[in-house]
Amino acid sequence: MTVYLNGQFLPITEAKISVLDRGFIFGDGVYEVIPVYSRHIFRLPEHLQRLRHSLDSIKLANPYSDAEWAQIIQELVTRNAPEDQYLYLHITRGVAKRDHAFPNPSVPPTVFLMSNPLNTPPAALLQNGISAITAPDNRWLRCDIKAISLLPNVLLRQMAIDAGCAETIMLRDNEFLTEGSASNIFVVKNGVLLAPPKDNLMLPGITYDVVLELAAANGIPHEVRKVQVAEVFDADELLLTSSTKEVLAITLLDEKPVGSGKPGAMFAKLHALYQKFKQEVMRA
Ligand code: PDD
Repeated sequence: MTVYLNGQFLPITEAKISVLDRGFIFGDGVYEVIPVYSRHIFRLPEHLQRLRHSLDSIKLANPYSDAEWAQIIQELVTRNAPEDQYLYLHITRGVAKRDHAFPNPSVPPTVFLMSNPLNTPPAALLQNGISAITAPDNRWLRCDIKAISLLPNVLLRQMAIDAGCAETIMLRDNEFLTEGSASNIFVVKNGVLLAPPKDNLMLPGITYDVVLELAAANGIPHEVRKVQVAEVFDADELLLTSSTKEVLAITLLDEKPVGSGKPGAMFAKLHALYQKFKQEVMRA
């Protein structure tokens, strides 16, 4: 596997960083996950825009222009074998003596990219859906930043795994739905797709945007608004989206069936539209 580290392409076994890297010491950095289909990079401008938002939010200068990013990313895709990949892009505030305050003068950021094979969900998961649990959203108030400090998300995901489930759905203040530990969540009720608004309490998902665009373009009723906890437990369907999982149905929540307990009509429609979109836009 060839990775990119601070201006160089090299085998992953040779990619080394300092133990004083602020990513390692403080989790002081941001990241992106970008799918690649048939060597076409999915929604690159949108991913770079979200990266800019994350960098601006932590007051870290963007090390590259969009054109430079595009070149590095394209090169990395070319240097790795799989036709379908997912790219992991990671920027930290660099290497400095341990001090919570930003290094002054600033130091060069650490920029790391790697490619992994993209394995989208297998047929069994599409047919049966996945199971999830709910938990209080105990994260900070800047969940819109795609920060590498993911300890709350890690603990929340592990809670699901320990319960024999795939994902944890987070509820803020026992009032409303935010998102999954590594995904966005939609609720379906009476044929209407309900999506939590993109605010400081959730990550603005790229897949989330695609799903809402597909809903709008295909006359699927949808509302972007706060989704109450009661609506989550009373859903006809629950859907999960992310760059690596695409669109999945959640069919079991806290050990109880969601709606019929099978992936529903909204899932079938949106999953088909997503695959068609991918096929047309990415693989043409
Ligand atoms: N995670 N919310 C959270 C907390 C996430 O970590 C992710 C994605 C999403 C979905 O965003 P997108 O559709 O842009 O992938 C929402 C990635 C896949 C990860 O950390 O591996």
